[in-house]
Amino acid sequence: MTVNQQSFADLGRVLVIIPTYNEVENVERIVGRVRAAVPEVHILVADDNSPDGTGELADKLAAEDSHVRVLHRKGKEGLGAAYLAGFRWGIDEGYDVLVEMDADGSHRPEELERLLTALRGADLVLGSRWVPGGRVVNWPKSRLLLSRAGSTYSRLMLGVPIRDVTGGYRAFRKETLLGLGMDEVASAGYCFQVDLAWRTVKAGFKVAEVPITFVERELGASKMSRNIVVEALWRVTSWGVADRFARLTGGKR
Ligand code: GDD
Ligand code: MN
Repeated sequence: MTVNQQSFADLGRVLVIIPTYNEVENVERIVGRVRAAVPEVHILVADDNSPDGTGELADKLAAEDSHVRVLHRKGKEGLGAAYLAGFRWGIDEGYDVLVEMDADGSHRPEELERLLTALRGADLVLGSRWVPGGRVVNWPKSRLLLSRAGSTYSRLMLGVPIRDVTGGYRAFRKETLLGLGMDEVASAGYCFQVDLAWRTVKAGFKVAEVPITFVERELGASKMSRNIVVEALWRVTSWGVADRFARLTGGKR
């Protein structure tokens, strides 16, 4: 019997979406940790036809546990596309809260209660590494620098009042996703995170950041690549420029 287990029934039905590409060493463990941390939530593994057999293993987990489902996608189309498909699936299935979580253990399921608690007073909750109390464990200096620079650049370029705008541990209310124009999102890679955060702010929703401890993966490899950085840089820059231009010419933001 776990003490302290609170209920989130007041938020409605909660779906944790876990995108996977070659996470066969991680998928069983992350699903187990989520189930143990907050037993009432459901999980959707959104797999991009991983060659390492992640999808098949996820199917096995789903067969053993009615709280686990799998969305099989035809190939690697990026984190953003996998999340958008997962959000649509979840909304169609009647979920009220959609959570983003990496498969590799970087986003600790044991902190999910903290995100859900904050969602009671917000439309989007971001797990944040860059607010007091937040931290990163085991990242090399180069990656720390890239992430901080990416977050700062996006914040200044777009004027979003968010410290960790690229982070990927988040809880959305369904209404937030429906109100931010999901159908126009074109970001494929990790700039998808910036895209959604910025849209949420522009649509007037309330965003809360809660500190998290981000723990670098122990197993498998990051999918971060040069292409992902390049996509983020040009998209954020072009959004920022277009936004400034629109404001200069008196257009609507
Ligand atoms: N389905 C699918 N398709 N999943 C993907 C894809 C894809 O093309 N690319 C990555 N993923 C999954 C991974 O399998 C993992 O579960 C999660 O997305 C995050 O990928 P990582 O490769 O572990 O990301 P990271 O640790 O380098 O980056 C983290 O930090 C970024 C910057 O702050 C993540 O938390 C990102 O979400 C975040 O933007
Ligand atoms: Mn990772």
